[in-house]
Amino acid sequence: MSVQAPSYIQHQRLINWVAEVAALTKPAAIHWVDGSDAENQQLLAQMVAAGTLKQLNPEKRPNSYAAFSDPSDVARVEDRTFVCSEKREDAGPNNNWQPPAEMRTTLNGLFDGCMAGRTMYVIPFSMGPLGSPIAHIGIEITDSPYVVASMRIMTRMGRNVYEVLGTDGDFVPCVHSVGAPLAAGEADKPWPCNPDTKYIVHFPESREIWSYGSGYGGNALLGKKCFALRIASTMGRDQGWLAEHMLILGVENPKGEKSYVAAAFPSACGKTNFAMLIPPKTYDGWKVTTVGDDIAWIKPAADGKLYAINPENGYFGVAPGTSEKSNPNAMAMLRENVIFTNVALTDDGDVWWEGMSKQAPAHLIDWQGNDWTPDCGRKAAHPNARFTVSAKQCPSLDAAWNDPAGVPISAFIFGGRRSSTVPLVFEAASWEEGVYLAATMGSETTAAAFGAQGVTRRDPFAMLPFCGYHMGDYFNHWLQMAGKVEHLPRIFCVNWFRTDQDGNFLWPGFGDNMRVLEWMVGRVQGQAEAQRNALGWVPEYAHLNWAGLDEFSAEHFAQLMALDAQAWQQELAAHDDWFTKLADRLPPQLAAHRSKLAESLAG
Ligand code: GTP
Ligand code: SPV
Ligand code: MN
Repeated sequence: MSVQAPSYIQHQRLINWVAEVAALTKPAAIHWVDGSDAENQQLLAQMVAAGTLKQLNPEKRPNSYAAFSDPSDVARVEDRTFVCSEKREDAGPNNNWQPPAEMRTTLNGLFDGCMAGRTMYVIPFSMGPLGSPIAHIGIEITDSPYVVASMRIMTRMGRNVYEVLGTDGDFVPCVHSVGAPLAAGEADKPWPCNPDTKYIVHFPESREIWSYGSGYGGNALLGKKCFALRIASTMGRDQGWLAEHMLILGVENPKGEKSYVAAAFPSACGKTNFAMLIPPKTYDGWKVTTVGDDIAWIKPAADGKLYAINPENGYFGVAPGTSEKSNPNAMAMLRENVIFTNVALTDDGDVWWEGMSKQAPAHLIDWQGNDWTPDCGRKAAHPNARFTVSAKQCPSLDAAWNDPAGVPISAFIFGGRRSSTVPLVFEAASWEEGVYLAATMGSETTAAAFGAQGVTRRDPFAMLPFCGYHMGDYFNHWLQMAGKVEHLPRIFCVNWFRTDQDGNFLWPGFGDNMRVLEWMVGRVQGQAEAQRNALGWVPEYAHLNWAGLDEFSAEHFAQLMALDAQAWQQELAAHDDWFTKLADRLPPQLAAHRSKLAESLAG
């Protein structure tokens, strides 16, 4: 097929690559995406006509749409995700691996003719501010117009990317297909995908991404987990920086002292909520601002500090649980220009999800298109239903969110979803101990990934599904920062999710997480007190600010902070199992700290 690139593209290698992919995938047409508003409107209208999108009531939710996926395609597919480094040991036990040559043969077979009857879109995008020295460019080829519209929100996407690329600039080639070729005359589905065959494949040495069979989230919006985490983490390993599954927020006290922190929580464990936190009413003069809610690229700078940028341009956030109470900033940001996926529809053409309001509407159309009533026993929205919205609509957006220099990070926070064992907050006694704590962090699995939910697994640094190389090498890369960065951030661990015997959360969470944040930035500024225990430094009841939460007693706090000896024996055994898996490349400092921790826990 002839590939006629628009005249503003002068990059022959790129044009040749597009021609190769077109020759393989055999689309009916090629659309070079320019990112214009007119193009976007045309794609949205086309998707409405095809039944992929429903336009929401413009009086309730202007310029907003709802998409409904195939029930087999609702989340990331970790067991279908591969890192195909030349050597198996470089991918590590944390990644699925196949020999690259074998995988290329498989992919060539799958992609042969896979875009038949469809339009192939060529999407130019930048992760990070366009043209900035820290940004990296990708080109995603896809046969999904939903991906095009989503990438326009989630990345800096459009034809000016080609100006930055020039005639021979570097880009990460990303090839995506829903894996559902159309025979001549065959009618399309509203959400085409391949229910049987999915492959999300990374070649770290050649920095390529190939994704087949899914149209959902991180499987398909390849700038996000595939590029900005799996590929970027290998770039960071080679070049001395960090690509992390972290939110970035700014916190300013009434004296005008501002700190930035970066926090890693596994998928659907509270990053978006924390990044947009509104402090309790009693926190007069405090401000929390949002730089990013999912991914941070962090680099050492000449002043001896670590600086972080958010490489994304929007939020692909979990809808269920988002409400005026839990996240008012998110609710305000979702008023217009949103693409919702797998939420429920109200009778007046708006959206609803579990947790949006205390009382559910009397009637809805659920995410699968069925009538829904509060007593029907099913969820109205899929638990991994998401919104896609531009960062510019976030009311708490930080003034420096777009700054190519990034923001200086003074603390790293690691948090899992643990109903037991792990206390509300503690501070690591050193960088090395902090790396140990992050490396052994556990969390209960959520609906963000396909598969069993609520199972506690090790999710080190919240990066288990996203680290593009051997986790042992990754831990070492973090340890090595100690020799490279003069002003290392402090390291904290938090757990918002501890429950009592009846399964109720012990901690109110959400806005009240400010109390823990205040203590952490107070520690950084040398102002907050703490006491030493086996895990590190912890606040006593009197060290936290309880104004406005008077009913929260010292006994209750003690329960939230308790270290249960038996539970910690099990926890250490889980650390051992995990370290055994990584044994061939586990940094010796971590094994040494394991013994020390056992001793201090034994008292
Ligand atoms: P990804 O986008 O998947 O990477 O996840 P995320 O970490 O941004 O997830 P998000 O903030 O959207 O987490 C949503 C889930 O966490 C919902 O179930 C919320 O109810 C829950 N959650 C968030 N913050 C808190 C909290 O402080 N306490 C409790 N108990 N739940 C919380
Ligand atoms: C996550 O699962 O951590 C997400 C959503 O942020 S997705 O983009 O689908 O990976
Ligand atoms: Mn995420």
